[in-house]
Amino acid sequence: MEKKTFYITTPIYYPSGNAHIGHSYCTVASDAIARYKRLQGYDVMFLTGTDEHGQKIEQKAAAEGVTPKEYVDKIVANFKNLWKLMNISNDRFIRTTDDYHVKAVQKIFRALYEKGDIYKGKYEGWYCTPCESFWTETQLKDGKCPDCGREVKWDEEEAYFFRLSNYADRLLKLYEDQPDFIQPESRKHEMINFIKQGLDDLCVSRSSFSWGIPVDFDQKHVVYVWLDALTNYITAMGYGSDDESDYKKYWPADVHFVGKEIVRFHTIIWPAMLMALDLPLPKQVYGHGWLLFGDGTKMSKSKGNVVDPGVLCSRYGVDAIRYFLLREIPFGADGVFTNEALINRINSDLANDLGNLLSRTTAMAQKYFGGKIPAQHEAEPLDEELITMASTLRDRCDKAIDGYQFSSALTEIWKLIARTNKYIDETMPWALGKDETKRERLAAVLYNLCESLRIISILLTPFMPDTAPKIQAQIGAPAETLTYQAAGTWGLLPADAEIVKGETLFPRIDVDKEIEELNALIVTKPAAPEKKKIEGLAQIGIDDFSKVELRVAQVTACEPIKRAKKLLKLTLDDGEGERTVASGIAKWYKPEDLVGRHIILVANLKPAVLCGVESQGMILAADAGEDDVRVIFADDVPAGSRVH
Ligand code: ME8
Ligand code: MG
Repeated sequence: MEKKTFYITTPIYYPSGNAHIGHSYCTVASDAIARYKRLQGYDVMFLTGTDEHGQKIEQKAAAEGVTPKEYVDKIVANFKNLWKLMNISNDRFIRTTDDYHVKAVQKIFRALYEKGDIYKGKYEGWYCTPCESFWTETQLKDGKCPDCGREVKWDEEEAYFFRLSNYADRLLKLYEDQPDFIQPESRKHEMINFIKQGLDDLCVSRSSFSWGIPVDFDQKHVVYVWLDALTNYITAMGYGSDDESDYKKYWPADVHFVGKEIVRFHTIIWPAMLMALDLPLPKQVYGHGWLLFGDGTKMSKSKGNVVDPGVLCSRYGVDAIRYFLLREIPFGADGVFTNEALINRINSDLANDLGNLLSRTTAMAQKYFGGKIPAQHEAEPLDEELITMASTLRDRCDKAIDGYQFSSALTEIWKLIARTNKYIDETMPWALGKDETKRERLAAVLYNLCESLRIISILLTPFMPDTAPKIQAQIGAPAETLTYQAAGTWGLLPADAEIVKGETLFPRIDVDKEIEELNALIVTKPAAPEKKKIEGLAQIGIDDFSKVELRVAQVTACEPIKRAKKLLKLTLDDGEGERTVASGIAKWYKPEDLVGRHIILVANLKPAVLCGVESQGMILAADAGEDDVRVIFADDVPAGSRVH
């Protein structure tokens, strides 16, 4: 029989900056589900990726002087490395710049256009010409562009729109017919209210920037981001390509995990697009909460909080971070991330509860039986509670995982860990070890401890994929006793299992010392000096600009001007001859700083007499700070070269 499939996705992240712990949060949660479902025997498809188009990326790349593709390539590599480091078991990684995605999006866009679900209209708003951006009334700051502070004008741009407004009724019906479609429940009410206020059609193309997928029948336009982004969930499966077999196999997705801020896009726009395409809808969208950092803000490097997941993983191990993310905050709710809470959890749950259980058990098995527990066991009624709790743990985990309640699943596992530790206190193996007649009882006690650890380790695998095999190796559990099936069955560890005490799983951390070191790690950048707003000037055409003759010239001599402290008199070789220029830079440059250097000269400026010196031009300099002027040098350009 064919295995049942299970398809899970993360959002595709914007590679506008490196991955942070918030991105790790959703990816680790998805990974735990993917691993759990694989353990249960599903044929799992786990997809993550990056959402690479748009104006923001285009601008960031420009600011760094690289192409958008070069810019995203670097950051995508950072994401991929992090997922590798964090043991993320994604089956695929989609980039919206991937060729197959680009083609499929063009095909989808065209299909929707041909059906009439996409139409050409006008995008209206307050337009800032220098920023090439539209703003809504509410986005404006004092009636001006919120980015640059300049005047805006009411303008319109031709754009394509998706007829979202047609789908309000069908969406409301979807939520009724499929009550689990939006989870958690509270987010569903938000969406219903949103729809009831009336849906506008959605702008799905732009022509004011170019970093996007071109609309193939109207090349002036690029597909505007959400249509490009959301369709990744089907294009990654081959939808719209020559081979749609994976699409047929895995779609519809069982669940999209997304942060709560993008639930709206996934539960309104995405199903409406699929309805328009006559495609099946995903079974569920789960909107998880935000990790908040210390002071309640969504994301900041507030003091004492390292949010770089790579740094955290290298200090505490990947599994400690995975455990913390999944255990600390109920999935769906917001939660505060602090390094202190992380370290406390590592110490109490991992070092104390789990780590000690393993090290005590393996140490005693070695001490009393040389690492091999004899087959003769003497059971006592006391054992029953432990055995029942251990052999039913899997069912409780399954139930929690069905509702994506990681924290509950881990709490159940830790209840068994606590119960097993208590079992040691109750049975007192060290006392049994002193009494020769209690060998069979001692064997039973140690065997039960190992069995409990075996079951714990299986159910921990999806959450802590590095740690679980370490436990299994120390208790000598063979592979066939480590299956999902075996997690529900007591008594599978064979008598000849070889138990060896191994490395400490989680060394205890000195909280105060560690926090101090972490604080030292956080390099707070000095605040950048506030830049003076550049006064906007009236626009000029290229003709106006070309009236200015800019030329490279060499400073051949330079001297102060007696009557004017601020001025230097420069003698220049402008490539054609000699000329003199007076320049107000004496405060920042001494004559010897300038002689021999090449500067840029405004060569056709009307001569003027300044403090008795005829100035035949002007040299270019920049206001580099509050009271700092820098001459623009062009030392590698020959004197006489035209600048344009
Ligand atoms: O929204 N706490 O990308 P994005 C918890 N490209 N989760 C967080 C988080 C935080 N502080 N910060 C980020 C986009 N996340 C679009 C998605 S999908 C078709 C397109 C996680 O880079 C969370 O899952 O802004 C959130 O939804 C996602 O990263 C947003 O990533
Ligand atoms: Mg975001």
